[in-house]
Amino acid sequence: MGSAAASPPPSRKPTQDELKRVAAHRAVEFVEPGMTLGLGTGSTAAHALDRLGDLLRAGALPGVAGVPTSHKTEAHAARVGIPLLPLGGGGGLEKIHLSIDGADEVDPDLNLVKGRGGSLLREKMIEGAGDRFVVIVDESKLVPRLGCTGAVPVEVVPFGARHTLGLIRKVFDGLTGFHARLRTVPAGANGEDSESEAPFVTDNSNYILEMFFVDGIRGDLPDISDRLLRITGVVEHGMFLGMATTVIVANKDGTVAVIN
Ligand code: 5RP
Repeated sequence: MGSAAASPPPSRKPTQDELKRVAAHRAVEFVEPGMTLGLGTGSTAAHALDRLGDLLRAGALPGVAGVPTSHKTEAHAARVGIPLLPLGGGGGLEKIHLSIDGADEVDPDLNLVKGRGGSLLREKMIEGAGDRFVVIVDESKLVPRLGCTGAVPVEVVPFGARHTLGLIRKVFDGLTGFHARLRTVPAGANGEDSESEAPFVTDNSNYILEMFFVDGIRGDLPDISDRLLRITGVVEHGMFLGMATTVIVANKDGTVAVIN
C-alpha cells in the first residue's frame, strides 16, 4: 500500500515497474492542496494513488479529492485514503483540476493509445474534462506512430457487437495486415458460470473490440477517429488525440523527461 523509495539503487538497471513509479511520483509533485484530481487506471497510475495516499495521510495535501476512472481505481483510492467524488452522481461532473494516468503508447505529438486495461471511456470523459492531463509512462511506451505495439481498443455496445466489428473492418478495408477482434477473457472471469471464453465487459457493461495495425496507424488520426465515432454502436475509442498537456517519461538511464 505505502510506496517505497522513488529511485532504485544506482548499481543496477531499474525495472519497468520502478520506472513507472518514478514517473508517477514526479506527477504527484504537481498536486496542490484543494485540488480535485482525475485518478487514472493501470499499474502506473496505481503508483500515483499510493503516493497520494501517503501524502494525504501525512497531512501534506489538505482538501485533495479524486474522481476515479474505473471501479478498480475507486477501490484502490478508497483503500489508501483518497477522498472520492462521484463522476456524474446527478449527471454532473466535478470540476477537475488535474488528471494523472498512464498510457499504452505515446507518439511524438503526445497523442496516446489508452484502454488496453479496458477503462478508456471513463478515462476519456474525466481526463478530457479537466484543466490539465499529466500522462505518466516509462520509456517503453514512446512510439513513432500509434498502434505500433499492440491493440487500439474500441468500446462498443454489446448489442450487435459482431456487426459493429464488421463496420470497423470496413473503415480499414484494404489496409495490409489490419485485423480486428472482440476482446475476450477466460471462462468465468466475468463471474459467470461458463466453460468457454466470454467477451471482456467494461465498467460500463460494454464490450471492447481490438484493432491491430502492422507498424502502426499511418493515416490521418482525426479523420480515422471521426469515422470510427460515426459508426452506430461505437461508444468511444482508445486514441486520445491532443488531450495530454504534459507527458512525464521515466528513462532507463535514470533521467526523467517532462514534456509539455
Ligand atoms: C487503462 C489504461 C492504462 O493507463 C494503460 O493501459 C497503461 O497501463 P499501465 O500503466 O499498467 O502500463 O489506459 O485503461
